[in-house]
Amino acid sequence: MNRVSEAKSVRTLIKSGIAQLRDAQVPSYTLAAELLLLHVLGRDRTWMYSHPEEEISLVNAEHYSALIRRRAAGEPTQHLTGKQEFWGLEFEVTPDVLIPRPETEHVIEVALERLAAREIRAGRRQPFSGEGLRIADVGTGSGCIAIALAKALPGAILFALDISGAALEVARRNAERHGVSDRMLFFQSDLLEDLVVATPFAANVLPHPSTTAIVPCELLRNGDPQSFGVPHPTGRDSPFRFDVVVSNPPYVGRREAATLMREVREHEPEIALYGGEAGYELYADLIAQSAKYLLPRGILVLELGHDSLPAVKPLLDAPAWTGVSVTNDLAGIPRVFAAERS
Ligand SMILES: C[S@@+](CC[C@H](N)C(=O)[O-])C[C@H]1O[C@@H](n2cnc3c(N)ncnc32)[C@H](O)[C@@H]1O
Repeated sequence: MNRVSEAKSVRTLIKSGIAQLRDAQVPSYTLAAELLLLHVLGRDRTWMYSHPEEEISLVNAEHYSALIRRRAAGEPTQHLTGKQEFWGLEFEVTPDVLIPRPETEHVIEVALERLAAREIRAGRRQPFSGEGLRIADVGTGSGCIAIALAKALPGAILFALDISGAALEVARRNAERHGVSDRMLFFQSDLLEDLVVATPFAANVLPHPSTTAIVPCELLRNGDPQSFGVPHPTGRDSPFRFDVVVSNPPYVGRREAATLMREVREHEPEIALYGGEAGYELYADLIAQSAKYLLPRGILVLELGHDSLPAVKPLLDAPAWTGVSVTNDLAGIPRVFAAERS
């Protein structure tokens, strides 16, 4: 074990961290070594580069060495620092949630572009704050998509759904961190389906937006309608008809598991990764349920796996959908599928 026995400088520590991670064949080893040192020191990169000779306390150096060993053994950097940036915002991540990926930002771009285009078509003025919109994020994980949309659309209400209660706890903390929890509701649900049982209890009402409690659909099923709070100001028929449904569902095939990086395969939640043996199995139910929950002219935006398009495209050929579009990611992979409810 490489224990730290005497004071070391920033430069010495970072060099040794880089060397250990390179030897362990960690991807982006320089960045990982830097991020871990910045995390331990609570400093930013500018400080690190301008203080190469600064002596690091033995406690911090020991801490850094321990993190480097864990990273070399395969733990993702984000699990060691507890955070990941997405859409310019810092999100808490834990082993209970998928680490937000850069390609998922395309989901937000497409949703915002589609909404803006719909507003222009309706002759409404820009910029658009999303006043009164109801947006569902199915499989919210860390909450990154829902929270980014809540920040971009300060008038919208976000429904964050996940089958994992542990993930919803992380999403709820992230919503608080970013000051949007008063406009977010959290539901533990299998895709959108468990909302069906909530509807009879909650007709014309929404759970009180100022509570950030997770609403297990079990509670809605057996619950007291009083606990669902205030009438919704826009007074639409059901609280669970949406203007937008977004989702980055699990889409990796179990048959591909061996090809995943070990950081992903061994450390990210299986429920967030695998959509079934082939990977695209959840899309059929997700699209059928979205057709039911979207309002007319409602927008569906889905992230796709690298080879999901051929299986998913026919599902949006139905008369229920118009204006189907596919957006490639920066690597040229068809990544986002969007359509409008007829
Ligand atoms: C690929 S992750 C996406 C997380 C997050 N939205 C993001 O983009 O980083 C998929 C999420 O869907 C959730 N999930 C898996 N199966 C589900 C289901 N049947 N119903 C609802 N959520 C599900 C997982 O718990 C996980 O949080």
